[in-house]
Amino acid sequence: MQYQWYPGHMSKAKRQIQDELKLVDVIVELVDARIPYSSKNPDIEKLAGSKPRVLLLNKSDLADEVRTKEYKQYYEEKGYYVVSVNAKGGAGVKNVSAVIKEACKEKRERDLKRGIIGRPLRAMIVGIPNVGKSTFINSFAGKNCTLTGNKPGVTKGKQWIRLNKELELLDTPGILWPKFEDQKVGLRIAWIGSINEDILDIRELAVTLLEYLYESYPGVIHTKYGIDECSDGNEALERIARKRACLKKGGEPDIDRAAGFIMDDYRAGKIGKITLESVQKV
Ligand code: G4P
Repeated sequence: MQYQWYPGHMSKAKRQIQDELKLVDVIVELVDARIPYSSKNPDIEKLAGSKPRVLLLNKSDLADEVRTKEYKQYYEEKGYYVVSVNAKGGAGVKNVSAVIKEACKEKRERDLKRGIIGRPLRAMIVGIPNVGKSTFINSFAGKNCTLTGNKPGVTKGKQWIRLNKELELLDTPGILWPKFEDQKVGLRIAWIGSINEDILDIRELAVTLLEYLYESYPGVIHTKYGIDECSDGNEALERIARKRACLKKGGEPDIDRAAGFIMDDYRAGKIGKITLESVQKV
């Protein structure tokens, strides 16, 4: 299966982010905690230059806590400040301010030495589509923030959300893309539901997901669907369809419908808190 995501306008978007980055002190990248590596943009290192980087492992409510901790450590060792968050439910969101300040400690000290006092830190949110950027901005900014308009000397049209005296956020997140070339990455992004369904073979998605779960999370499919697990995803899919009496008119299993509800179940967290890659096995 070949994936073709987010066509067009890539270089334009990248240029725009490059321009906007000049206006901020720190870059806050969101990834999906179920696929921290695959949902991470490969260009961000270059784009960020020497600016401090904060990485938010979002949707942590859906991910495997043990693996989330492993990824946190993994990216901290690479120089990121990492926070695990659930932008939708709010968990972890209130820690982000302190981590941003910590990430900008050197810059704040430099400012102080130069006599610059009281200038708020500026942050920009970036990430691939659907990782929860807008949800995070709403949750992070909450109701107690103010929008500040254009400022002299700042690119026209930019809106800043003032969170408090010390922190401002660019109100529109930067949209980046995942690692296009890697088909494994494409498959994982499709598993979490961030690729347009119309271009996907739902049956293949469910078969490959079932095979991954069989290998990495033995027992979860049995617990959820009550079938004897097996290494062949096609066989497992058929067993689940029969077990759920998901049948066509003639009594044949309705494989596509079963594939659809399995993917829905996974994405809604109904199969369990499951992460689809690990630091040990890229
Ligand atoms: P984006 O700006 O990066 O494109 O993402 P957006 O905030 O639109 O979020 C994409 C989807 O992910 C939304 O679901 C949102 O509710 C969900 N989401 C964001 N953060 C979290 C999180 O921490 N945990 C969970 N479980 N979900 C999260 P949706 O189905 O598109 O909308 P809705 O049904 O929530 O209204």
